[in-house]
Amino acid sequence: MIIEPRTRGFICLTAHPVGCAAHVKQQIEYVKQQGKINGPKKVLVIGASTGFGLASRISAAFGFDASTIGVFFEKEPAPGKTASPGWYNTAAFETEAHAAGLYAKSINGDAFSDEIKQKTIDLIKKDLGQVDLIIYSLASPRRTDPKTGITYQSTLKPIGQVFENKTVDFHTGEVKQVSIEPASEEDVANTIKVMGGEDWELWIDEMKDAGVIAENALTVAYSYIGPKVTEAVYRNGTIGRAKDHLEATVTRINEKLKDLNGLSYVSVNKGLVTQASSAIPVIPLYISLLYKTMKEKGLHEGCIEQIYRLYKDRLYTAGEVPVDEKGRIRIDDWELRDDVQAVVSELWEKTTTENLSELGDLAGYRTDFFNLFGFEIAGVDYAADANEMVDIPGLQ
Ligand code: NAD
Ligand code: NA
Repeated sequence: MIIEPRTRGFICLTAHPVGCAAHVKQQIEYVKQQGKINGPKKVLVIGASTGFGLASRISAAFGFDASTIGVFFEKEPAPGKTASPGWYNTAAFETEAHAAGLYAKSINGDAFSDEIKQKTIDLIKKDLGQVDLIIYSLASPRRTDPKTGITYQSTLKPIGQVFENKTVDFHTGEVKQVSIEPASEEDVANTIKVMGGEDWELWIDEMKDAGVIAENALTVAYSYIGPKVTEAVYRNGTIGRAKDHLEATVTRINEKLKDLNGLSYVSVNKGLVTQASSAIPVIPLYISLLYKTMKEKGLHEGCIEQIYRLYKDRLYTAGEVPVDEKGRIRIDDWELRDDVQAVVSELWEKTTTENLSELGDLAGYRTDFFNLFGFEIAGVDYAADANEMVDIPGLQ
Protein backbone atom coordinates (compact mmCIF):
# COMPACT_ATOMS: atom_id res chain seq x y z
CA MET A 1 0.00 0.00 0.00
CA ILE A 2 0.98 3.66 -0.27
CA ILE A 3 1.95 4.78 3.23
CA GLU A 4 1.77 8.39 4.30
CA PRO A 5 2.44 10.05 7.65
CA ARG A 6 -0.66 10.56 9.78
CA THR A 7 0.21 12.70 12.77
CA ARG A 8 -1.76 13.42 15.88
CA GLY A 9 0.01 15.92 18.11
CA PHE A 10 3.50 14.66 18.87
CA ILE A 11 2.88 11.15 17.59
CA CYS A 12 2.70 9.70 14.12
CA LEU A 13 0.23 6.86 13.70
CA THR A 14 1.87 5.33 10.64
CA ALA A 15 5.40 4.18 9.87
CA HIS A 16 7.09 3.47 6.55
CA PRO A 17 8.87 0.08 6.37
CA VAL A 18 11.18 1.06 3.50
CA GLY A 19 11.96 4.42 5.09
CA CYS A 20 12.68 2.87 8.49
CA ALA A 21 14.97 0.34 6.80
CA ALA A 22 16.83 3.11 4.98
CA HIS A 23 17.20 5.06 8.22
CA VAL A 24 18.66 2.00 9.96
CA LYS A 25 21.04 1.40 7.05
CA GLN A 26 22.29 5.00 7.31
CA GLN A 27 23.14 4.34 10.96
CA ILE A 28 24.86 1.05 10.14
CA GLU A 29 26.89 2.79 7.43
CA TYR A 30 27.97 5.47 9.89
CA VAL A 31 29.31 2.85 12.31
CA LYS A 32 31.05 0.90 9.55
CA GLN A 33 32.79 4.07 8.37
CA GLN A 34 34.01 4.90 11.88
CA GLY A 35 35.56 1.47 12.24
CA LYS A 36 35.74 -1.33 14.77
CA ILE A 37 36.00 -0.94 18.53
CA ASN A 38 37.50 -3.58 20.77
CA GLY A 39 34.36 -4.20 22.81
CA PRO A 40 32.11 -6.91 24.28
CA LYS A 41 30.83 -9.70 22.09
CA LYS A 42 27.50 -10.51 23.77
CA VAL A 43 25.18 -7.60 24.32
CA LEU A 44 21.64 -7.23 25.66
CA VAL A 45 19.76 -4.02 24.84
CA ILE A 46 16.53 -3.32 26.73
CA GLY A 47 14.62 -0.69 24.72
CA ALA A 48 16.43 -1.67 21.51
CA SER A 49 14.05 -0.65 18.75
CA THR A 50 14.24 3.16 18.52
CA GLY A 51 16.28 6.15 19.68
CA PHE A 52 19.33 5.63 21.87
CA GLY A 53 18.63 1.93 22.40
CA LEU A 54 18.54 1.18 18.66
CA ALA A 55 21.77 3.16 18.23
CA SER A 56 23.27 1.12 21.09
CA ARG A 57 22.35 -2.11 19.36
CA ILE A 58 23.61 -1.02 15.94
CA SER A 59 26.90 0.28 17.40
CA ALA A 60 27.45 -2.98 19.32
CA ALA A 61 26.71 -5.20 16.33
CA PHE A 62 28.64 -3.28 13.70
CA GLY A 63 31.23 -1.68 15.99
CA PHE A 64 32.14 -4.68 18.19
CA ASP A 65 30.89 -7.51 15.92
CA ALA A 66 28.71 -8.41 18.89
CA SER A 67 25.86 -10.88 19.11
CA THR A 68 22.84 -8.87 20.24
CA ILE A 69 19.52 -9.60 21.89
CA GLY A 70 17.02 -6.73 21.73
CA VAL A 71 13.98 -6.28 23.95
CA PHE A 72 11.26 -3.74 23.08
CA PHE A 73 7.54 -3.11 23.01
CA GLU A 74 6.31 -2.48 19.48
CA LYS A 75 3.08 -2.91 17.56
CA GLU A 76 3.17 -5.58 14.87
CA PRO A 77 1.67 -4.89 11.46
CA ALA A 78 -1.76 -6.05 10.33
CA PRO A 79 -3.05 -6.07 6.74
CA GLY A 80 -3.65 -2.42 5.85
CA LYS A 81 -2.20 -1.19 9.16
CA THR A 82 1.44 -0.38 9.60
CA ALA A 83 3.56 -1.58 12.49
CA SER A 84 5.13 0.94 14.87
CA PRO A 85 8.52 2.19 13.66
CA GLY A 86 10.58 0.11 16.10
CA TRP A 87 9.17 -3.01 14.51
CA TYR A 88 10.39 -2.02 11.06
CA ASN A 89 13.69 -0.73 12.47
CA THR A 90 14.33 -4.08 14.10
CA ALA A 91 13.34 -6.05 11.01
CA ALA A 92 15.87 -4.04 9.00
CA PHE A 93 18.58 -4.23 11.66
CA GLU A 94 18.29 -8.01 11.99
CA THR A 95 18.26 -8.52 8.24
CA GLU A 96 21.50 -6.53 7.95
CA ALA A 97 23.07 -8.17 11.01
CA HIS A 98 22.30 -11.66 9.74
CA ALA A 99 23.68 -10.78 6.30
CA ALA A 100 26.89 -9.73 8.07
CA GLY A 101 27.02 -13.10 9.86
CA LEU A 102 26.04 -11.67 13.25
CA TYR A 103 23.70 -13.29 15.77
CA ALA A 104 20.65 -11.06 16.41
CA LYS A 105 17.38 -12.07 18.06
CA SER A 106 14.57 -10.07 19.60
CA ILE A 107 11.82 -10.22 22.19
CA ASN A 108 8.73 -8.04 21.82
CA GLY A 109 6.79 -7.47 25.04
CA ASP A 110 6.60 -5.56 28.31
CA ALA A 111 10.14 -5.34 29.70
CA PHE A 112 8.72 -4.36 33.10
CA SER A 113 7.07 -7.78 33.44
CA ASP A 114 8.55 -10.90 35.07
CA GLU A 115 7.53 -12.91 32.02
CA ILE A 116 9.65 -10.93 29.54
CA LYS A 117 12.63 -10.91 31.91
CA GLN A 118 12.38 -14.69 32.20
CA LYS A 119 11.99 -15.11 28.44
CA THR A 120 15.11 -12.99 27.89
CA ILE A 121 17.10 -14.91 30.48
CA ASP A 122 16.08 -18.22 28.90
CA LEU A 123 17.16 -16.98 25.46
CA ILE A 124 20.54 -15.80 26.79
CA LYS A 125 21.09 -19.16 28.50
CA LYS A 126 20.16 -21.10 25.38
CA ASP A 127 22.11 -19.08 22.82
CA LEU A 128 24.79 -16.93 24.43
CA GLY A 129 25.35 -18.34 27.90
CA GLN A 130 26.08 -14.93 29.39
CA VAL A 131 26.17 -11.29 28.31
CA ASP A 132 28.95 -8.79 28.99
CA LEU A 133 27.10 -5.54 28.29
CA ILE A 134 23.53 -4.66 29.28
CA ILE A 135 22.12 -1.40 27.93
CA TYR A 136 18.98 -0.15 29.67
CA SER A 137 17.21 2.37 27.39
CA LEU A 138 13.51 2.23 28.18
CA ALA A 139 11.31 5.30 27.85
CA SER A 140 7.71 4.68 28.78
CA PRO A 141 4.77 6.71 30.09
CA ARG A 142 3.59 3.85 32.33
CA ARG A 143 4.79 0.80 34.20
CA THR A 144 2.99 -2.06 35.88
CA ASP A 145 4.86 -3.23 38.97
CA PRO A 146 5.21 -7.00 38.47
CA LYS A 147 5.10 -7.69 42.21
CA THR A 148 1.85 -5.81 42.97
CA GLY A 149 0.12 -5.52 39.58
CA ILE A 150 -0.35 -1.78 40.16
CA THR A 151 0.12 0.44 37.11
CA TYR A 152 1.87 3.81 37.54
CA GLN A 153 1.81 6.75 35.11
CA SER A 154 4.73 9.10 34.76
CA THR A 155 4.18 12.85 34.34
CA LEU A 156 6.22 15.81 33.09
CA LYS A 157 5.53 18.47 35.66
CA PRO A 158 7.42 21.05 37.70
CA ILE A 159 7.68 20.60 41.45
CA GLY A 160 6.54 23.24 43.93
CA GLN A 161 5.74 25.99 41.42
CA VAL A 162 3.88 26.64 38.19
CA PHE A 163 6.15 26.41 35.15
CA GLU A 164 5.70 29.14 32.56
CA ASN A 165 7.81 29.48 29.48
CA LYS A 166 7.82 29.31 25.72
CA THR A 167 7.12 26.22 23.71
CA VAL A 168 6.57 25.44 20.04
CA ASP A 169 4.02 23.41 18.15
CA PHE A 170 6.59 21.95 15.77
CA HIS A 171 3.99 21.13 13.12
CA THR A 172 2.77 24.71 12.74
CA GLY A 173 5.84 26.56 14.02
CA GLU A 174 3.70 28.54 16.45
CA VAL A 175 5.66 29.72 19.49
CA LYS A 176 3.42 30.22 22.49
CA GLN A 177 3.43 30.36 26.26
CA VAL A 178 2.87 27.15 28.13
CA SER A 179 1.85 26.95 31.75
CA ILE A 180 2.13 23.68 33.68
CA GLU A 181 0.69 23.17 37.13
CA PRO A 182 3.02 21.71 39.76
CA ALA A 183 3.10 17.99 40.47
CA SER A 184 1.48 16.38 43.46
CA GLU A 185 3.57 14.18 45.72
CA GLU A 186 1.88 11.21 44.10
CA ASP A 187 2.95 12.40 40.62
CA VAL A 188 6.55 12.50 41.82
CA ALA A 189 6.38 9.02 43.35
CA ASN A 190 4.66 7.59 40.27
CA THR A 191 7.19 9.06 37.85
CA ILE A 192 10.03 7.60 39.92
CA LYS A 193 8.26 4.23 39.80
CA VAL A 194 8.12 4.36 35.99
CA MET A 195 11.36 6.07 34.94
CA GLY A 196 13.58 5.60 38.00
CA GLY A 197 16.02 2.75 38.53
CA GLU A 198 13.79 0.12 40.15
CA ASP A 199 13.18 -1.89 37.00
CA TRP A 200 16.84 -1.66 35.92
CA GLU A 201 17.84 -3.13 39.28
CA LEU A 202 15.21 -5.88 38.94
CA TRP A 203 16.69 -6.86 35.58
CA ILE A 204 20.15 -7.07 37.13
CA ASP A 205 18.89 -9.02 40.16
CA GLU A 206 17.11 -11.59 38.06
CA MET A 207 19.87 -11.92 35.50
CA LYS A 208 22.47 -12.31 38.21
CA ASP A 209 20.45 -14.96 40.02
CA ALA A 210 20.16 -16.84 36.73
CA GLY A 211 23.93 -16.62 36.16
CA VAL A 212 23.64 -14.88 32.79
CA ILE A 213 25.88 -11.89 33.60
CA ALA A 214 29.51 -12.47 32.64
CA GLU A 215 32.51 -11.45 34.74
CA ASN A 216 33.65 -7.87 34.10
CA ALA A 217 30.26 -7.04 32.59
CA LEU A 218 29.05 -3.46 32.32
CA THR A 219 25.50 -2.16 32.47
CA VAL A 220 24.57 1.34 31.33
CA ALA A 221 21.34 3.36 31.60
CA TYR A 222 20.68 6.75 30.00
CA SER A 223 19.93 10.06 31.66
CA TYR A 224 19.50 13.70 30.73
CA ILE A 225 20.33 17.03 32.36
CA GLY A 226 19.77 19.80 29.81
CA PRO A 227 19.87 23.58 30.01
CA LYS A 228 18.62 26.22 32.46
CA VAL A 229 15.49 26.97 30.40
CA THR A 230 14.09 23.45 30.81
CA GLU A 231 15.41 22.89 34.35
CA ALA A 232 12.18 23.64 36.24
CA VAL A 233 10.13 21.26 34.11
CA TYR A 234 12.80 18.65 33.35
CA ARG A 235 15.72 18.14 35.72
CA ASN A 236 14.05 19.75 38.75
CA GLY A 237 10.64 18.34 37.78
CA THR A 238 9.06 14.91 38.14
CA ILE A 239 11.19 13.29 35.42
CA GLY A 240 14.34 14.74 36.99
CA ARG A 241 13.45 13.04 40.28
CA ALA A 242 13.20 9.78 38.37
CA LYS A 243 16.61 10.43 36.77
CA ASP A 244 18.06 11.18 40.25
CA HIS A 245 16.73 7.79 41.34
CA LEU A 246 18.17 6.11 38.24
CA GLU A 247 21.56 7.69 38.93
CA ALA A 248 21.44 6.64 42.58
CA THR A 249 20.70 3.06 41.48
CA VAL A 250 24.25 2.85 40.12
CA THR A 251 25.65 2.51 43.65
CA ARG A 252 23.20 -0.29 44.45
CA ILE A 253 23.88 -2.22 41.26
CA ASN A 254 27.65 -1.81 41.70
CA GLU A 255 27.35 -3.48 45.10
CA LYS A 256 25.51 -6.39 43.50
CA LEU A 257 27.97 -6.78 40.63
CA LYS A 258 31.06 -6.56 42.87
CA ASP A 259 31.74 -10.30 43.03
CA LEU A 260 31.61 -10.45 39.22
CA ASN A 261 33.93 -7.46 38.98
CA GLY A 262 31.09 -5.80 37.05
CA LEU A 263 30.17 -2.11 37.00
CA SER A 264 27.18 0.03 36.21
CA TYR A 265 27.03 3.54 34.80
CA VAL A 266 24.59 6.20 33.89
CA SER A 267 25.47 8.05 30.71
CA VAL A 268 24.06 11.56 30.38
CA ASN A 269 23.17 11.94 26.72
CA LYS A 270 22.43 14.90 24.47
CA GLY A 271 18.90 16.21 23.90
CA LEU A 272 17.64 14.73 20.63
CA VAL A 273 14.44 14.21 18.73
CA THR A 274 12.98 10.84 19.69
CA GLN A 275 9.44 9.66 20.30
CA ALA A 276 10.07 10.11 24.02
CA SER A 277 11.44 13.68 23.85
CA SER A 278 8.87 15.08 21.43
CA ALA A 279 6.25 14.53 24.14
CA ILE A 280 8.01 16.84 26.60
CA PRO A 281 6.82 20.48 26.62
CA VAL A 282 9.48 23.13 25.90
CA ILE A 283 12.05 20.53 24.76
CA PRO A 284 11.17 20.76 21.02
CA LEU A 285 11.78 24.53 21.01
CA TYR A 286 15.03 24.10 22.90
CA ILE A 287 16.14 21.31 20.56
CA SER A 288 15.45 23.36 17.45
CA LEU A 289 17.62 26.21 18.81
CA LEU A 290 20.25 23.72 19.96
CA TYR A 291 20.37 22.01 16.56
CA LYS A 292 20.87 25.32 14.80
CA THR A 293 23.69 26.29 17.16
CA MET A 294 25.45 22.93 17.19
CA LYS A 295 25.18 22.50 13.42
CA GLU A 296 26.73 25.95 12.92
CA LYS A 297 29.59 25.01 15.23
CA GLY A 298 30.04 21.61 13.56
CA LEU A 299 29.16 19.84 16.83
CA HIS A 300 25.82 18.29 15.94
CA GLU A 301 25.30 14.59 16.67
CA GLY A 302 22.34 12.21 16.38
CA CYS A 303 21.75 9.05 18.45
CA ILE A 304 24.20 6.96 16.46
CA GLU A 305 27.07 9.47 16.72
CA GLN A 306 26.39 9.84 20.46
CA ILE A 307 26.44 6.12 21.20
CA TYR A 308 29.42 5.34 18.99
CA ARG A 309 31.31 8.03 20.91
CA LEU A 310 30.04 6.61 24.22
CA TYR A 311 31.50 3.22 23.34
CA LYS A 312 34.71 4.43 21.76
CA ASP A 313 35.74 7.37 23.98
CA ARG A 314 34.12 6.48 27.29
CA LEU A 315 33.30 2.81 27.91
CA TYR A 316 35.88 0.92 25.87
CA THR A 317 39.01 3.01 25.94
CA ALA A 318 42.18 1.34 27.15
CA GLY A 319 42.04 3.26 30.44
CA GLU A 320 39.48 4.17 33.07
CA VAL A 321 35.98 5.28 32.14
CA PRO A 322 35.96 9.10 32.41
CA VAL A 323 33.14 10.34 34.66
CA ASP A 324 32.00 13.60 36.28
CA GLU A 325 32.12 14.42 40.02
CA LYS A 326 28.90 12.43 40.49
CA GLY A 327 30.28 9.36 38.74
CA ARG A 328 28.23 9.90 35.56
CA ILE A 329 29.48 9.51 32.01
CA ARG A 330 28.92 12.75 30.09
CA ILE A 331 28.31 12.62 26.35
CA ASP A 332 26.20 15.73 26.69
CA ASP A 333 29.54 17.55 27.03
CA TRP A 334 29.23 19.35 23.68
CA GLU A 335 25.57 20.28 24.26
CA LEU A 336 26.43 21.86 27.59
CA ARG A 337 29.55 23.68 26.42
CA ASP A 338 29.44 27.31 27.62
CA ASP A 339 29.73 28.74 24.12
CA VAL A 340 26.84 26.56 22.88
CA GLN A 341 24.57 27.38 25.80
CA ALA A 342 25.37 31.10 25.59
CA VAL A 343 24.11 31.22 22.01
CA VAL A 344 21.06 29.06 22.75
CA SER A 345 19.93 31.18 25.69
CA GLU A 346 20.37 34.37 23.66
CA LEU A 347 18.25 32.85 20.88
CA TRP A 348 15.71 31.63 23.42
CA GLU A 349 15.01 35.20 24.56
CA LYS A 350 14.51 36.44 21.00
CA THR A 351 12.48 33.59 19.53
CA THR A 352 8.95 34.27 18.28
CA THR A 353 6.65 32.51 15.82
CA GLU A 354 7.80 34.97 13.13
CA ASN A 355 11.56 34.44 13.47
CA LEU A 356 11.83 30.81 14.62
CA SER A 357 12.51 29.38 11.16
CA GLU A 358 15.45 31.78 10.91
CA LEU A 359 16.80 31.62 14.49
CA GLY A 360 16.16 27.94 15.06
CA ASP A 361 16.41 24.74 13.06
CA LEU A 362 12.70 23.96 13.04
CA ALA A 363 13.08 22.29 9.65
CA GLY A 364 15.78 20.01 11.08
CA TYR A 365 13.56 19.20 14.03
CA ARG A 366 10.66 18.29 11.75
CA THR A 367 12.81 16.20 9.45
CA ASP A 368 14.21 14.27 12.40
CA PHE A 369 10.68 13.76 13.73
CA PHE A 370 9.41 12.36 10.43
CA ASN A 371 12.57 10.28 10.04
CA LEU A 372 11.69 8.51 13.31
CA PHE A 373 8.72 7.02 11.45
CA GLY A 374 10.58 6.35 8.23
CA PHE A 375 9.32 9.43 6.38
CA GLU A 376 11.28 12.14 4.52
CA ILE A 377 14.30 9.88 4.10
CA ALA A 378 16.32 10.77 1.00
CA GLY A 379 16.21 8.18 -1.74
CA VAL A 380 12.97 6.50 -0.64
CA ASP A 381 10.15 6.44 -3.19
CA TYR A 382 7.08 7.23 -1.11
CA ALA A 383 4.77 7.05 -4.13
CA ALA A 384 5.60 3.35 -4.54
CA ASP A 385 3.65 0.51 -2.99
CA ALA A 386 5.22 -0.70 0.24
CA ASN A 387 4.57 -4.02 1.96
CA GLU A 388 3.46 -3.28 5.52
CA MET A 389 3.56 -6.98 6.50
CA VAL A 390 7.26 -7.17 7.34
CA ASP A 391 8.59 -9.95 9.62
CA ILE A 392 11.38 -9.59 12.16
CA PRO A 393 13.61 -12.53 11.23
CA GLY A 394 14.95 -13.26 14.72
CA LEU A 395 11.77 -12.54 16.70
CA GLN A 396 11.26 -15.11 19.46
P1 NAD B 1 12.58 6.01 22.54
O1 NAD B 1 11.15 6.31 22.75
O2 NAD B 1 13.17 6.25 21.21
O3 NAD B 1 12.91 4.48 22.93
C1 NAD B 1 12.23 3.79 23.92
C2 NAD B 1 12.48 2.30 23.79
O4 NAD B 1 11.85 1.65 24.92
C3 NAD B 1 11.87 1.65 22.54
O5 NAD B 1 12.71 0.62 22.10
C4 NAD B 1 10.56 1.05 23.07
O6 NAD B 1 10.08 -0.07 22.32
C5 NAD B 1 11.02 0.61 24.44
N1 NAD B 1 9.93 0.43 25.40
C6 NAD B 1 9.07 1.36 25.90
N2 NAD B 1 8.24 0.78 26.80
C7 NAD B 1 8.59 -0.52 26.88
C8 NAD B 1 8.14 -1.63 27.64
N3 NAD B 1 7.15 -1.52 28.51
N4 NAD B 1 8.73 -2.83 27.43
C9 NAD B 1 9.74 -2.99 26.53
N5 NAD B 1 10.23 -1.95 25.82
C10 NAD B 1 9.66 -0.76 25.98
O7 NAD B 1 13.33 6.84 23.67
P2 NAD B 1 14.81 7.42 23.83
O8 NAD B 1 14.72 8.90 23.69
O9 NAD B 1 15.81 6.66 23.05
O10 NAD B 1 15.02 7.16 25.39
C11 NAD B 1 15.81 6.12 25.92
C12 NAD B 1 16.49 6.62 27.18
O11 NAD B 1 17.37 7.70 26.85
C13 NAD B 1 15.51 7.17 28.23
O12 NAD B 1 15.96 6.82 29.51
C14 NAD B 1 15.63 8.67 28.04
O13 NAD B 1 15.28 9.40 29.19
C15 NAD B 1 17.11 8.77 27.73
N6 NAD B 1 17.52 10.04 27.11
C16 NAD B 1 16.83 10.58 26.07
C17 NAD B 1 17.23 11.82 25.55
C18 NAD B 1 16.50 12.47 24.40
O14 NAD B 1 16.67 13.67 24.20
N7 NAD B 1 15.73 11.74 23.62
C19 NAD B 1 18.38 12.46 26.06
C20 NAD B 1 19.09 11.85 27.10
C21 NAD B 1 18.64 10.64 27.63
NA1 NA C 1 15.78 3.69 23.11
